[in-house]
Amino acid sequence: MGMYFSTFISGIQEFIPGVLRKNIRDVKITRLLDGAILYQTSANIESIKNIRFFNNSFEVIKTFEDPRDIDDMIKECIEDRSIGNEISATIGKSNQGKTFRIITSKENRLISADKKFIDKLESKIMRNGVQVDRSGPDIEFWFLQRRENIGIFMMRLTKHRAYEKVLQKGELRPEISSIMCLLSEPGRADIVIDPFCGYGSIIIERSKIPHHKIIGIDSDRKKIFDLKRKTKGKGIEIYPSNSLDLSRIKSDSIDKIITDPPWGIYEKINSKEFYERMLKEFLRVLRPGGICVILTSQKELTPELAKKLKIKIEGRFDILVSGKKAALFKMRKPQTKDLRVN
Ligand SMILES: C[S@@+](CC[C@H](N)C(=O)[O-])C[C@H]1O[C@@H](n2cnc3c(N)ncnc32)[C@H](O)[C@@H]1O
Repeated sequence: MGMYFSTFISGIQEFIPGVLRKNIRDVKITRLLDGAILYQTSANIESIKNIRFFNNSFEVIKTFEDPRDIDDMIKECIEDRSIGNEISATIGKSNQGKTFRIITSKENRLISADKKFIDKLESKIMRNGVQVDRSGPDIEFWFLQRRENIGIFMMRLTKHRAYEKVLQKGELRPEISSIMCLLSEPGRADIVIDPFCGYGSIIIERSKIPHHKIIGIDSDRKKIFDLKRKTKGKGIEIYPSNSLDLSRIKSDSIDKIITDPPWGIYEKINSKEFYERMLKEFLRVLRPGGICVILTSQKELTPELAKKLKIKIEGRFDILVSGKKAALFKMRKPQTKDLRVN
């Protein structure tokens, strides 16, 4: 079994163990932290690298209980005779390249470490035929000290591209979209809609999981035009419409709605009126028992309206999206036909 450390969006930790167990085999969770998980598994590295709801994953070489500081952790690694073998095994398995650097981080901030310790550990790592490159290395070794009294020495497995360069303004990060899709209890017979699909982050993520049909709708024709090109051949239906009136969609016909509606921050909308019309329309098109997952900054208004419309909130996760306070709501349309709304 290898040991791994993976990071995810802070605020959803209670949801992570279950989905991790569904994604890879033989998972043994060692520590569940705020926004990170330490676990063992016999799954191969490639399947860990491919988990889409993690921000980043690392292969763990050594853990430290209650370390005094990063320098102490590095010193222990220099003195530990067996760590040389652990490092060669990790480098060998990952096959990531010929250059490396050591990064030191405390409570999510990069910090500097004693240079003489770093030099010594670098020499030890170089015995594996890899060279130091502090600007653009193939391999990154990390020393991490967390506030939960744990220290970790590990090698980075994944590094996504800088999102500010690849994502459009307002486009969701794939990890958030992936979490939203998993929260909706995806099934292979699902008919899924995202009525505010924007640049398509959610529908593209959902298309990677077995489904029957996926529909993306947005009132912005330019976004729809671009998205049709981007998703060509993926079998996703995309069309422009005002989603406060989903008249093209029959009542009780949709299994899942997964969406990120306007938050009322940049757009000129009357949030109360908009959200009420939106939820009423969602309630109409969802089949009884159907699930709706919404990401919004309307953290008070959404539960207030759900209560009024008799939509059951089954889950709520408070998260930050690009530094803004938001919540993920998982709601379910009641099975009963008695859905009289005042
Ligand atoms: C928060 S953004 C969604 C971003 C999307 N999740 C993504 O990753 O690109 C909200 C979207 O709702 C669309 N929108 C606003 N009002 C709408 C309406 N009445 N009907 C349909 N779409 C609407 C906007 O054009 C925008 O793309």
